[in-house]
Amino acid sequence: MLVDRFGRVHRDLRISLTDRCSLRCTYCMPAEGVPWLPGSTLLTTAELVRIASVAVAHGVTEIRLTGGEPLLRPDVVDVVAAMAALDGPEGSPEISLTTNALRLPALAAPLADAGLARVNISIDTLQRERFRDLTRRDRLTDTLAGIAAADAAGFRPIKLNAVAMRGVNDDELVDLVRYAVDRGYEMRFIEQMPLDAGHTWARRTMVTGTEILERLAEAFTLTEIPGRGSAPAERWLVDGGPSTVGVIRSVSAPFCGACDRVRLTADGQLRSCLFARTETDLRTILREGGTDEDLEAAIRTCLAGKQPGHGIDDPTFLQPDRPMSAIGG
Ligand code: GTP
Ligand code: 5AD
Ligand code: SF4
Repeated sequence: MLVDRFGRVHRDLRISLTDRCSLRCTYCMPAEGVPWLPGSTLLTTAELVRIASVAVAHGVTEIRLTGGEPLLRPDVVDVVAAMAALDGPEGSPEISLTTNALRLPALAAPLADAGLARVNISIDTLQRERFRDLTRRDRLTDTLAGIAAADAAGFRPIKLNAVAMRGVNDDELVDLVRYAVDRGYEMRFIEQMPLDAGHTWARRTMVTGTEILERLAEAFTLTEIPGRGSAPAERWLVDGGPSTVGVIRSVSAPFCGACDRVRLTADGQLRSCLFARTETDLRTILREGGTDEDLEAAIRTCLAGKQPGHGIDDPTFLQPDRPMSAIGG
């Protein structure tokens, strides 16, 4: 098992497949993008699978593929198939994906066949002009088609993620829940974290989970579902259920005490936390002929340095050098 100094067992590996994205959400990237990782530093599929196999051998049971936009990786279906075929003491890992959905019309069915279990889809607004302003691409219709494709391919549950932003989409929370409830999806609202490339985040202007819940309570009866385990989202039944809504209060109510996540960047650096100040270089170990034991030791060294929490409220807090798009969310 992969245990840290605080007794947290790590069962969830989040792997960023690429730092590139087909959208340019204002809270994530500038219009021109960010300096992309050089191609030679990106892990090959064999390298990714090797790291994942070591993690699975030591107790990882869930692998989430992230980006940037993970579906931009040309061999993403092969990656899913290889990950789903891994076997550890607790069996094969569950493979899930967090995506902007743009490529799902083409890929949902092959991904399902390859063994992908679940998808979480980012959709911050249902209004075309807003979507265009927020993502700097006029592609709301394509996102909606991607969600429908995920549904048709049989993925369950389908979770929709929206970062709540003041003056941008905070008047649309009820509409987003109605859209999701009507189709049997789970809408989740996320407190914005200080991870934007422009370093413009301010706690003062962040829409809090409490505000989100107040808005939703004006339109729906919410019944809290107890027992979230290590999941970031707190969940409520909407109007008695079966539909649910989630809120991810990373900033105002951190869930670091139950964190079971470790992250691998597309260039092979392991991070013990979204907000970690240091990374462990697994790529060099791989490329210099390291053994599985060397990789395991490096994973354990990384976790030995994991802090008890993200420290966003500490006066000494510094935003990570890498933007969200390069860490994987
Ligand atoms: P499920 O397995 O479906 O619960 O997925 P998830 O909510 O863990 O993953 P997803 O990629 O959909 O992320 C939703 C939001 O939660 C994003 O804003 C992530 O950055 C955030 N998130 C996921 N894991 C963590 C974490 O360990 N810490 C913090 N602070 N935020 C996280
Ligand atoms: N804070 C919180 N969530 C964010 N995401 C992107 N940037 C941030 C941020 N600064 C969300 C995306 C996606 C998920 C992986 O993380 O919208 O749904
Ligand atoms: Fe884990 Fe860091 Fe997220 Fe806290 S902020 S839950 S420690 S990844």
